[in-house]
Amino acid sequence: MSDKDRVLIFDTTLRDGEQSPGATMSHDEKLEIAGLLDEMGVDIIEAGFPIASEGDFAAVSEIAKQAETAQICGLARANFKDIDRCWEAVKHAKRPRIHTFIGTSPLHRAIPNLNKDEMAERIHDTVTHARNLCENVQWSPMDATRTEWDYLKRVCEIAIRAGATTINIPDTVGYTAPVESADLIRDLIAEIPGADEVIFATHCHNDLGMATANALAAVAGGARQIECTINGLGERAGNTALEEVVMAMKVRGDIMPYFTDVDTAKIMNISRRVASVSGFDVQFNKAIVGKNAFAHESGIHQDGMLKNAETFEIMRPEDVGLTETNIVMGKHSGRAALRSKLKNLGFDLADNQLNDVFVRFKALADRKKEVFDDDLVALMRDSSAEQANEHLKVKFLRVICGTEAPQSADLTLIVDGEDHQVTATGDGPVDAAFNAVKQVFDHDATLELYQVQAVTEGTDAQATVSVRLNEDGRIATGQSADTDTVVASVKAYVNALNRLIERRKMGQVGYDEKTVSYKDAG
Ligand code: KIV
Ligand code: ZN
Repeated sequence: MSDKDRVLIFDTTLRDGEQSPGATMSHDEKLEIAGLLDEMGVDIIEAGFPIASEGDFAAVSEIAKQAETAQICGLARANFKDIDRCWEAVKHAKRPRIHTFIGTSPLHRAIPNLNKDEMAERIHDTVTHARNLCENVQWSPMDATRTEWDYLKRVCEIAIRAGATTINIPDTVGYTAPVESADLIRDLIAEIPGADEVIFATHCHNDLGMATANALAAVAGGARQIECTINGLGERAGNTALEEVVMAMKVRGDIMPYFTDVDTAKIMNISRRVASVSGFDVQFNKAIVGKNAFAHESGIHQDGMLKNAETFEIMRPEDVGLTETNIVMGKHSGRAALRSKLKNLGFDLADNQLNDVFVRFKALADRKKEVFDDDLVALMRDSSAEQANEHLKVKFLRVICGTEAPQSADLTLIVDGEDHQVTATGDGPVDAAFNAVKQVFDHDATLELYQVQAVTEGTDAQATVSVRLNEDGRIATGQSADTDTVVASVKAYVNALNRLIERRKMGQVGYDEKTVSYKDAG
């Protein structure tokens, strides 16, 4: 295939994905994910929105310094202050990119109260300014799919003349459909003077469940860059899932003759890491990376699979990095076996990290006869969540529960290095334990989500617990895993509180879902 069939993969997990309420990642987690994306062969990493906060700025700058091959991009609204700040962060990269955007649909033009001509002028000025700083400039007319096509052509042409090198066509609210998505890109490329000098990109949201189909249709229409996120992470119904578009082009190259540079064998590992650091679990039946994506439960399927895997499998698990091993770990398994098992699961640990994980693994193996792959993934996830626990830590917990109410909990919580001991009661053991946490660390956050899942089968299975808190629109999620559901619940709650404390410190520019636009940076 020639270069014209190459589709660039622009990953926005760290920007559009992280924008999803509650998906906030720490600085180190962002660096780790960026490193994995770079290694995986993603062409462009949108590392954040530098003007949004000091934290975003620091993360984008650091990622720009560490990236080996990927272009590093930052987001900026259509004003000089945003663009300058973005450039300050991305300029450290070997291959920096500025991505500037403005909402062009009638609804979006009304927000800054600009008429069509005024907006056209703003686009010319801001793209020119960005291009004077950086030779690689991406411009996006936000809500393009609800913008009048003639006006869209006019503003795209202005951006191209002002020096944009990539024109991205966002389906911001997930409104388009495959036929329209292909027609729109085809029409823009055919009609805009200078269109063949730039790359057209597609950026789809999944509100109607069509983000993957719309992105692939846009490629059929001539787009050569897909914007996407790992696991389809993103606010509301999420973004186009990287793993879906990449695997679709790989598996159906016969009807989609395009290629990407993504090493698909790295998909499962990064999917697990993103689920873990964002706190957004992957649904079991999610295409490509869901727990059941390669599972064949029914008798007919199993019989067919044993005879010939191709009967029900259109791709091999190894193609996405799912390696099957029959080694189940137990309390006699040693450090070397654990290291190799974790490596197989995508966790390449340094010696000091392995020591810590080995201690946890032994504790788990003492409580559980057999430690399965999913147990180890949960254990790794728990250990990475604990790293966020800088302020609050559970030291001791005992709950008394049974048929007689109320249930009670004795808790010792460490708050900034100091032990606090309390006893609280509640309606059930989890309620009692959460009341105890609240008694020590009073707060106004409301519990929006409390979810328990068994990691494996059996009564000795670990439970993974996810908690989401909302404090005046500031959202934080927490996770934990333990064979004791109440312990996992309290640790997840405390993990969410730690993240909330961090979020209070960050004071970010918010993304307003109702108007689908960014609030002013002030
Ligand atoms: O969905 C969208 O329109 C965006 C833009 C900022 C590109 O994420
Ligand atoms: Zn978006």
